Amino acid sequence: MYQAKENRYSEMVYNRCGHSGLLLSAMSLGLWHNFGSAAPYTNMAEMVTTAFDLGITHFDLANNYGPEPGAAEENMGRILRRELAGYRDELIISTKAGYLMWPGPYGDHGSKKYLIASLDQSLRRMGLDYVDIFYHHRPDPDTPMEETAAALDQIVRSGKALYVGVSNYTPEQTKKMAALLRQLGTPLTVHQPRYNMLDRAFFEELEPTLAEEGIGSVCFCPLAQGLLTNRYLSGIPKDSRAASASPFLQENRITPELIEKVRRLQALAENRGQTLAQMATVWDLRNTLTSVILGASRASQIVENVQALSRRDFTPDELREIDSILYGDVSA
Ligand SMILES: NC(=O)c1ccc[n+]([C@@H]2O[C@H](COP(=O)([O-])OP(=O)(O)OC[C@H]3O[C@@H](n4cnc5c(N)ncnc54)[C@H](OP(=O)(O)O)[C@@H]3O)[C@@H](O)[C@H]2O)c1
Repeated sequence: MYQAKENRYSEMVYNRCGHSGLLLSAMSLGLWHNFGSAAPYTNMAEMVTTAFDLGITHFDLANNYGPEPGAAEENMGRILRRELAGYRDELIISTKAGYLMWPGPYGDHGSKKYLIASLDQSLRRMGLDYVDIFYHHRPDPDTPMEETAAALDQIVRSGKALYVGVSNYTPEQTKKMAALLRQLGTPLTVHQPRYNMLDRAFFEELEPTLAEEGIGSVCFCPLAQGLLTNRYLSGIPKDSRAASASPFLQENRITPELIEKVRRLQALAENRGQTLAQMATVWDLRNTLTSVILGASRASQIVENVQALSRRDFTPDELREIDSILYGDVSA
């Protein structure tokens, strides 16, 4: 029977999510990969309990995480029942809907019909009465945003989620959703954008809007799915995401040019006394964001990445060198 470490809150940093009362661990754990129907239970449970022992309170899911879609929520449900039964009030569980989940006209996008039915399914899969955060996973240009906002408001009022957020919305879409939700009396608490050294533009354009509106930011793919680690420096390991059946990271992303840059980033990280995964994680956190969502295939990666919190500062020279490695001499 799992017993959480007593000192689990001693090292982690907790940041306020926008202007809300919600504090999130600076690092969250995402269940997008490695929590599918074929994943071994012991490895999944070890990842989740290791994260919790390190002070990670926030676990990020979506209706479609698997494969098969729904499998990650089912597995999280098992872990919540078997390992974390006594800890629900110490956990922030997020889920989302917005991508294709079931056939027919009601299993995708942003209608009230889809969002409410999907959250009901997610709650059943996880065996929960409520989630802490429910996100609209992506903007839907064909559903009036008023309807999506009304669905999010209804979800909070019905007690099925405590907070609501959006993911992948542009600054303009975010402002509109924030205004609609404000009129309804439900704040837009959090946004979930992509952000890492290789892919920064989306969050950087969004950040002023989030600051102005008092919306928290929980950023995904801090390690660019593993590219910003030592994983691919000597080829493509059989047990890596790039070698797996996942369509989201294909081998052709791993070019000699990218690997040369990664090697130089790794040398810089070593000079700082860190691994590249650690440096890339805290590079995200040097910014004003609320939390980064780590992905992992084994518990040791989570341990390594959380240790990065002890070395979060960057000198201006280090930041310039990172930019110069990735984008050429930007200061010239
Ligand atoms: N809202 C959205 O649209 C959206 C989209 C994407 C993701 N997300 C969320 O963000 C979460 C994180 O995404 P992600 O998994 O792509 O995150 P990531 O942190 O960029 O990549 C995680 C992968 O990096 C590798 N890794 C991690 N730590 C390592 C270490 N110390 N040393 C070497 N390799 C290491 C592992 O790859 P291997 O598996 O190869 O070991 C791991 O699976 C997802 O689970 C999901 O919750 C949200």
